[in-house]
Amino acid sequence: MHNHHSALGLVRDLKPVEPVTLVRPHAARRAARFFADHFPGKTLYAVKANPSPDLLRVLWDSGVTHYDVASIAEVRLVARTLPEATLCFMHPVKAEEAISEAYWTHGVRTFSLDTMDELEKIVRATEGAADLNLLVRLRVSSDHSKLSLAAKFGAEPEDVAELLMAARQAADALGICFHVGSQAMSPHAYAVALERVRAAIVAASVTVDIVDVGGGFPSWYPGMEPPPLKAYFDVISRGFESLPISYSAELWCEPGRALSAEYSSLIVRVEKRRGDELYINDGAYGALFDAAHVGWRFPVTLLREPNAEVSVTMEAFSFYGPTCDDLDHMTGPFMLPDDIQAGDYIEIGMLGAYGCAMRTKFNGFGAEHVAVVSDEPMESLYVGALADTERRSATITKLF
Ligand SMILES: Cc1ncc(COP(=O)(O)O)c(C=O)c1O
Repeated sequence: MHNHHSALGLVRDLKPVEPVTLVRPHAARRAARFFADHFPGKTLYAVKANPSPDLLRVLWDSGVTHYDVASIAEVRLVARTLPEATLCFMHPVKAEEAISEAYWTHGVRTFSLDTMDELEKIVRATEGAADLNLLVRLRVSSDHSKLSLAAKFGAEPEDVAELLMAARQAADALGICFHVGSQAMSPHAYAVALERVRAAIVAASVTVDIVDVGGGFPSWYPGMEPPPLKAYFDVISRGFESLPISYSAELWCEPGRALSAEYSSLIVRVEKRRGDELYINDGAYGALFDAAHVGWRFPVTLLREPNAEVSVTMEAFSFYGPTCDDLDHMTGPFMLPDDIQAGDYIEIGMLGAYGCAMRTKFNGFGAEHVAVVSDEPMESLYVGALADTERRSATITKLF
């Protein structure tokens, strides 16, 4: 166990040769509490965003009782980590064996689907069970989102009525779900999708018990500053209230990014500088997959002793990761002091969602240490912008 007062203190004391993941349980706790207090329905955590058992336990302790799982491995993980949790198998295309194990071994009762074939699979694998919650996934637009989820899944408008009627026959509770795409930059995305839900209910004339607005709730990244989450909740609440559904119908959401992004950041070391390119020790095959593959920009801070006598000019840099291929390149731009050099350390923020979860050990890199810190994330949708001094008053309580 090591104790430090700050990320900078950790770097000063340990000079870590490998990347160090900083985790902030208090940030995840705050995000979970925010959803519990303000989302006008039930919150399921989308485990794919970050399946860390430590994070799952933090969310559970903060009142998140339902988990959106997408694979049998995620089902097993959550069942093992949180035996009391309610699991919802929300991948619309599942192996029949996975449905069977989820239902018979792990008590999963909630499944999503977007075709008749999948409905038949679920009915077969559960032997016509009478206690199923079946959610039909609609295809909706990803126009307002940074990462599209519009191509792969979702029933088309012309097929929805028949599918809803068939699912109604097989379900104890019938639901409709959708995903507006990840990092939705406007609440309007949900208003448009809920209009699709209305049209589907009218076309099928079925009683709908659950409306699940999926994930897509944003976090904060450079160049992607979203409106406050409350604005999203207000739009969803209004859209839900106006649907032709019974008074007792439930509203659900499945945030991944919004609950986990602020949980983690990463300390990396600069191994080489070549002009405005920095060679760092994590990259496309590590926690920076999105930075490399979809040009995502993450906030960065140089971890160096402050020196009032030196005036700093910021410059735009790109990063190369540690592996041997050219693809391991993050264009950024990442704004850092112009005198940064090999041996310096950088903290890369907001990597709790789809960062830490995507790591590989390709090329022998990817070994890492984890430290729990109690300072604030570089940015927060939950506490607003923070002064530099507040952000950097870290207390590292654990290093393992
Ligand atoms: C079915 C489903 N629900 C929820 C999520 C979480 O989305 P986000 O992280 O954008 O909130 C995803 C992400 O791919 C998903 O596929």
